[in-house]
Amino acid sequence: MILITGASGNVGREVLKQIVGTGAQVRAGFQSLNKAAAAPSGVETVALDYGQPETMRSALKGVERVFLVGPPTAQLPALERMAVDLIKQSHVTQVVKLSAMGGRHAIFPRQHAESEDYIRSSGLPYTFLRPNGFMQNMINYNAPTINAQNAFYGSEGDGRVSQVDIRDVAAVAVKALTEDGHVGKTYTLTGPEALTNREIAQILSDTVGREIRYIDLPPAQLKQALLSAGVPEWSVDALLDLQRLYREGRAATVTGDVEQITGRKPIGYTQFSRDYKNVFQPEERAAS
Ligand SMILES: NC(=O)c1ccc[n+]([C@@H]2O[C@H](COP(=O)([O-])OP(=O)(O)OC[C@H]3O[C@@H](n4cnc5c(N)ncnc54)[C@H](OP(=O)(O)O)[C@@H]3O)[C@@H](O)[C@H]2O)c1
Repeated sequence: MILITGASGNVGREVLKQIVGTGAQVRAGFQSLNKAAAAPSGVETVALDYGQPETMRSALKGVERVFLVGPPTAQLPALERMAVDLIKQSHVTQVVKLSAMGGRHAIFPRQHAESEDYIRSSGLPYTFLRPNGFMQNMINYNAPTINAQNAFYGSEGDGRVSQVDIRDVAAVAVKALTEDGHVGKTYTLTGPEALTNREIAQILSDTVGREIRYIDLPPAQLKQALLSAGVPEWSVDALLDLQRLYREGRAATVTGDVEQITGRKPIGYTQFSRDYKNVFQPEERAAS
């Protein structure tokens, strides 16, 4: 039995969708059980909150492999420590942890590096997946201003980032969870190229057939805008720190790990923008 945690999240949802096709026995853990209705048919669903040990214990019954996802909040290291302590007491033989690329050079990846340290010191057999920033962040964070103003905002300057498509992250996760040979391995997951936000704006413009601009803001101005939009201060600071890392060109490495594990080239930004074209078409969204 494979337990997929964070099953309602951006990555967990996609892992669930892809793993169903493998025929593996799967259980999906939902912090908010009302979101479990969206799980693919045939998947067993359970309530799972790392902060409530009894839910974790019962979710772990009969489980051999766990896909471990923590929320991108200040609580991630503490929540994942609680989860790891309970996994350690179970019969699990492999933890596939969704981590992040970036080492200890910014707040978000540093949290994951600490969590990796904890898993290593626990003695649990592990596989670490370290994706770079997700292409789908453009949808989750920027679609509203792209559709209202034909623009998206950031403080990345001309830093290049080898963003990865969540579908590739999920494809690697499914391999690590359903095949042997991945224990003790760390995979750094990137797209096929490192692009600046201005280049991305051009790709999006070409795909949707209208001009979409990237507007670079001074970090203090971006911080104010995010705070005004109601984003919690911890998250704003972590996001700005990540923008700094990008601006400094420290997230530009392109790896071959997606291709090595999946046997096919990672999805590029042009393909991503074509696949999600409708999200950036206000009139088509309104009509659908
Ligand atoms: N965005 C990026 O570019 C990027 C890049 C690299 C790595 N990452 C990392 O990838 C991970 C997942 O990202 P994502 O975009 O999939 O996140 P997400 O969509 O916010 O998903 C987080 C999941 O965690 C669940 N969760 C929250 N609190 C929980 C708790 N106390 N116990 C159990 N489950 C809980 C959420 O459930 P509910 O929906 O019920 O709250 C949700 O399913 C994060 O750790 C992030 O740091 C992100």
